[in-house]
Amino acid sequence: RIVRREDYAPPAYWIDSVDLTFDLDPAKTRVLNRMRVRRNPDVPAQPLRLDGEELNLARVLVNGQGTSFKMDGGQLVLEALPEGTEPFELEIFTTCCPEKNTQLMGLYVSQGTFFTQCEAEGFRRITYFLDRPDVMATYTVTLRADKAKYPVLLSNGNLVDSGDLDGGRHYARWEDPHRKPCYLFALVAGKLVCRSQPIISRSGTEHLLQIYVRQADLDKTEHAMQSLMAAIAWDETRFGLPLDLQRFMIVATSDFNMGAMENKGLNIFNTKFVLANPATATDVDYANIESVVAHEYFHNWTGNRVTCRDWFQLSLKEGLTVFRDQEFSQDMAGSPSARAVKRIEDVRVLRTAQFPEDAGPMAHPVRPDQYAEINNFYTVTVYEKGAEVVRMMQTLVGREGFARGLKLYFERHDGQAVTCDDFAQAMADANPDSPLAQHLEAFKRWYAQAGTPRVRAQGQFDPERGTYTLTLRQSCPPTPGQPTKAPFVIPVAMGLLDHQGHALPGTERLVVLHEPETTVVFDGLQAAPIASLLRGFSAPVILEHDLSDDELLVLLAHDTDPFNRWEAGQQLALRRALAAVRAAGPVHEPLDGAFLEAMRAVLRHPALDAAFKELVLTLPAETYIAEQLDEVDPQRIHAVREAMRRQLAHALHDDWVWAYEQHKDNGAYRPDAVSAGRRALTGLALHMLCLAARDNGNPVWPGKTYQRFKDATNMTDRYQALSALVTAGHELGQRALAQFHDRFHAEELVLDKWFALQAGAPDRDGDALPRVQALLQHPDFNLRNPNRARSLISTFCHANPAGLHRADGAGYAFWRDRVLEIDAFNPQVAARLARALDRWRKLAEPYRSAARAAIEAVAAHEGLSTDVREVVSRALAD
Ligand code: ARG
Ligand code: ZN
Repeated sequence: RIVRREDYAPPAYWIDSVDLTFDLDPAKTRVLNRMRVRRNPDVPAQPLRLDGEELNLARVLVNGQGTSFKMDGGQLVLEALPEGTEPFELEIFTTCCPEKNTQLMGLYVSQGTFFTQCEAEGFRRITYFLDRPDVMATYTVTLRADKAKYPVLLSNGNLVDSGDLDGGRHYARWEDPHRKPCYLFALVAGKLVCRSQPIISRSGTEHLLQIYVRQADLDKTEHAMQSLMAAIAWDETRFGLPLDLQRFMIVATSDFNMGAMENKGLNIFNTKFVLANPATATDVDYANIESVVAHEYFHNWTGNRVTCRDWFQLSLKEGLTVFRDQEFSQDMAGSPSARAVKRIEDVRVLRTAQFPEDAGPMAHPVRPDQYAEINNFYTVTVYEKGAEVVRMMQTLVGREGFARGLKLYFERHDGQAVTCDDFAQAMADANPDSPLAQHLEAFKRWYAQAGTPRVRAQGQFDPERGTYTLTLRQSCPPTPGQPTKAPFVIPVAMGLLDHQGHALPGTERLVVLHEPETTVVFDGLQAAPIASLLRGFSAPVILEHDLSDDELLVLLAHDTDPFNRWEAGQQLALRRALAAVRAAGPVHEPLDGAFLEAMRAVLRHPALDAAFKELVLTLPAETYIAEQLDEVDPQRIHAVREAMRRQLAHALHDDWVWAYEQHKDNGAYRPDAVSAGRRALTGLALHMLCLAARDNGNPVWPGKTYQRFKDATNMTDRYQALSALVTAGHELGQRALAQFHDRFHAEELVLDKWFALQAGAPDRDGDALPRVQALLQHPDFNLRNPNRARSLISTFCHANPAGLHRADGAGYAFWRDRVLEIDAFNPQVAARLARALDRWRKLAEPYRSAARAAIEAVAAHEGLSTDVREVVSRALAD
């Protein structure tokens, strides 16, 4: 069954208040749901159809009296309801079985603690309800449970009552003062401890912040608390948005399908995005925690105070909130260069994950038009491309204009469930003279049209007139269901440089391309300039230009825009990679002297930050290289990229030694951007030095790396050293892996790293798949835990192309078996894994046929979930 955006209709009933009573028991939880319901006067009279899934219905009462009802599919249908628009009481009593809930949607048990996950449609697995975001109610929740097993009882809002009951049980009663859609409902019950932090906001209001974890994890909560406080302060300062709750709680769970969830006042997090101390978490973990804690907090306004009318509008809250968390992380990073590093990292995600999605069988607009399973649309398109769309609005109206637009959005829509159009309209109305307002209807095509637009730039210098004419042309390839596209509104931030690398004054501007083609003329020039286009990646497009290698080298060395400096280096590397992939015969040395010298100059540069150097010296990913080709041979791409890495390792050997020695001492661990950047560059240097040692057989650097692994005082340094040895395939890597396991066997999140490192390690003569298969049998492997399953299986299938794409097809058979195995108990996790073969049509033979056979085998399986069915049938559709 397909759900379509155009079929939206307002609900036939409103639910004004909900009073829930839970008797919590893992095997049989009893849920009493008392609602005040009334007919929606704007909709013709019709029966009330409540959603439900895997519930046992015991009783239905209307105004305290029994009533007739029937079941239709999963829905409970009530026909004999009171007429008129007066509210009535509807009481529904059901039971469910949390310990058998392996999907982790609705109410489930993880390590003896109860958790909920309701977005998008999990509330219907707790009780019968109008499970749609435009039905908003006030909630009162009473939790009853065994006091010894479940000492902590939490739900949304404020604790208004608690006490003991007979038989060793106790209760807690929570009231949420804010109306909310049911996807924001949450409860937690279990043995947890918390870090508490009272704060006083800028306006003088007192709040209590709490982070709940297992006893053993209490020493890993400081960074999340710091991040939360920083996020609260930032939202007040930058957008004037205060915390509207007396109590704001975060709870961590080891079993979670996604990253985290913004339930009102009771955020529930994957442990991965909360827990950190220097001994167990890397810099990347610290940065992710900062951004996910902020993301969920920011949802309190963008998502909770103003929510989505229907799930097609998901990007209304997700794109906007990702944009906000990106801006927050940039502001936290501080210096212009550290901000650029964050921007580059975000663009890298967009290009390596979202561009392929936009070019593949699951391509969909930022505001999709249809879905079979909404969980399949929590995608990089809705999130990251959605954030780019919001970022373009900020570019078109300016930073202050954007803050004005957000203010108007809340003035108009606070407490409502609205659409992406409402957001864009508020932005435009608050900035009536902006290019956004001028081109609003065309701009909104970013929400409606899928596919990554291409912008082709051509420059013409006229020496007679001293003019430079820049022509920009846009096009967008067809995507499923959208054969042709109307022009997008594309902000192109740009400037000109001379061939010595000096910025040409007065040439910086924002060109707004809104037609198929536009021309811009610069005059008063002495010589042909070099155009630096799409600065800061001002639009999510593929830019095609005719810059020569020499011109790119000038940009790499001198552009004032750090993003385009990095981009010039990537372009140079990409050109060489593509040439070597396309060339016939064995892979030789893809890199030339000029490129290597340029890389050396960046590495040795006296003024550039270590973090930025690390990004420039990291070659484009294999998946990104693959996206540039019509026909993909993953083994060839792997061989080429490895050859490039080895050349960088050898040609810059002394420079890597220098970089290591310069940056290796970091003092006491601090997760700030500058020290993290030093550690990142040190780690890259070790990878390069171990790689070089592999060829020359010199044991010095593997030995030093192993020593660093053993002596490390923080996880970042330890993991980097381990990874350098394992990635280079050095025998010391095996010893270090065993020691790492011994030391951290009690730390779930560290063990995930241990599995992921081995799953992602380069394939040598087909050794990756057997390695992963052996790890499936490891006593610490647990398919049911999403983090553990992803660390081994998804890392292999999504991040080890040369391991997966084997000529014998064994990688695809492995993928097929794991998808089916996981689908039997957790469709959401299975459907994400299923996407690993999205791009099968681009593969060269024999990969293509073997991949197709594996996808067909999955599609032919009986009893496939809607989730996986949608992914594989789209993959096979022509
Ligand atoms: N709203 C959450 C976030 O991005 C994600 C929840 C996704 N859940 C799901 N079942 N698809 O912060
Ligand atoms: Zn979100």
